[in-house]
Amino acid sequence: MSPQRASSPLSTGSAADFIPPNPTLPKLREAAAGCRGCDLWVNATQTVFGEGPRAAEVMLVGEQPGDQEDRQGHPFVGPAGRLLDAGLEHAGIDRSRVYVTNAVKHFKFVVIERGRRLHKKPSAGEVRACNPWLQEEIRLLKPRVVVALGATAAQALLGKQFRVTQHRGKPIPTDIADAIVATVHPSAILRAPDEAREEARQEFFADLAVVAKYLKSHPTNRP
Ligand code: URA
Ligand code: SF4
Repeated sequence: MSPQRASSPLSTGSAADFIPPNPTLPKLREAAAGCRGCDLWVNATQTVFGEGPRAAEVMLVGEQPGDQEDRQGHPFVGPAGRLLDAGLEHAGIDRSRVYVTNAVKHFKFVVIERGRRLHKKPSAGEVRACNPWLQEEIRLLKPRVVVALGATAAQALLGKQFRVTQHRGKPIPTDIADAIVATVHPSAILRAPDEAREEARQEFFADLAVVAKYLKSHPTNRP
């Protein structure tokens, strides 16, 4: 148990308490299924852990699973995932060669009319509590490029001060990967008003094209 957890009434605990010794990605996934690092597991169906090949050069990080992801147990399989797939295809990045995950691994929602579950933004404390899973995924996978989809992911990776609007589509060198590229969340495009949606989609696609270009123009230093 972390010291903060014992001493601070504001702390929501941490996934760090659930990380197994000498983790591998399969061991992490198994452990994450039983995570109780914050309260989001209580109402969600299951942990939605990252997925993709061990040799993936690109890791895409979303905010948290949505309704479909929560039911199916896989990241980005709903409407946002379809838009993401289209953007990857447009950029010439094969989805089967990327690892896809989220900053927060349980679905947070409120129930509205007729039992519909409406996405609710995770709190800063929940993002912090869940961050150890993401950090371990990055450490073990060693992607060349990490793509932050939206402000929650970008801030989980680059700190609370980071502004997607100021830095989107620009590769940022970091310790955890050769570069992080931040862009908007595909769900934000789906929610945009009709007259703004097409432009938002084009800009999102352009940011993913930056990732493809970066991979081509920066020779890999991986074995
Ligand atoms: N939105 C996300 O951020 N992640 C998903 O997995 C699905 C929708
Ligand atoms: Fe654990 Fe993250 Fe789920 Fe919270 S959201 S219970 S920290 S996996």
